[in-house]
Amino acid sequence: MAGFYEDIGGPLSRGQLISMTVWLNEQAGIPLSQVRPETVNGDVQLGQEIYERECSECHGAKGEGGTGTALGNQAMLSMTTDTFLRHAIASGRQDTEMPAFADKLTPEEINGITAFLRSRATGWDVQKPVLRKPPAVEDYVINPEGDPPEFTLKDGLYVMSADLYKAMQEKRRMVILDTRVMSLWQLSHIEGAVPLPYYYDYGNVGALADDLPKNGTWIVTYCECPRAAAESVNKRLVDLGFENTAVLWEGAFGWVGLGYPVSHGDTTVAEKHSIEYR
Ligand code: HEC
Repeated sequence: MAGFYEDIGGPLSRGQLISMTVWLNEQAGIPLSQVRPETVNGDVQLGQEIYERECSECHGAKGEGGTGTALGNQAMLSMTTDTFLRHAIASGRQDTEMPAFADKLTPEEINGITAFLRSRATGWDVQKPVLRKPPAVEDYVINPEGDPPEFTLKDGLYVMSADLYKAMQEKRRMVILDTRVMSLWQLSHIEGAVPLPYYYDYGNVGALADDLPKNGTWIVTYCECPRAAAESVNKRLVDLGFENTAVLWEGAFGWVGLGYPVSHGDTTVAEKHSIEYR
């Protein structure tokens, strides 16, 4: 099961993940009133700005505490709900120095700080992975000057890992498509593979073909499952008229299990990250 959150390369935003969770709860017959209140949605960036201005004096620049409690305390954050945090910020804590902010800040700003505090739940210095960019269209074809590979396909569809590896070693011309959720491509992928998640381009099948060579260059798809997602993309390619297409028999998991190499994602971390196509 791959991660679907956009911060790690997946296709879904936080809001979409929350909506889906609410929907799943509804399907299970859990009333909305029991699902929603625990989560406060807000603008983390806005919250951070207000925190620095209004709260850091008492709660510490990095939530380490001072006059006020240590809001960066992970144990505290894991035990309190968003609703409680929001309530404490809006209403203050009676008979303490914690002021009520309901009159000073807008509801949106209070939501922002709540979301900001929640976003520190795994540590104050959030380190977001730097998502690497997929190859540029000009680089889709591996070994553009090479000869085409001579694949013997199982059942007319499947290429064995050993044969694909051999073709890579022999610098054969081909395209390899990684059809898994993009967060998995970010973690590691077969060298030269272009991410084309199975969910990409739904309802707009034609666009899938635009960037791929239509001159008989071999196109190998793979996934983790080990073949379902890769087969669905392969089928769409075939429907679009692509001729030399194949699905990796063992999938990415099998490929690694057999000891064939993968290139790893970028492990450096920074605040800024880019999200490519969903
Ligand atoms: C003048 C100092 C002061 C300022 C400014 C202040 N706080 Fe507090 N805050 C406190 C104190 C003291 C407590 C502990 C209250 C208690 O003992 O229950 C507290 C408690 C809290 C709590 C409850 C935590 C818990 O574990 O009970 C939250 C949440 C909180 N503050 C958030 C904020 C936020 C967000 C801001 C800025 C918008 C802010 N505070 C500004 C002094 C301050």
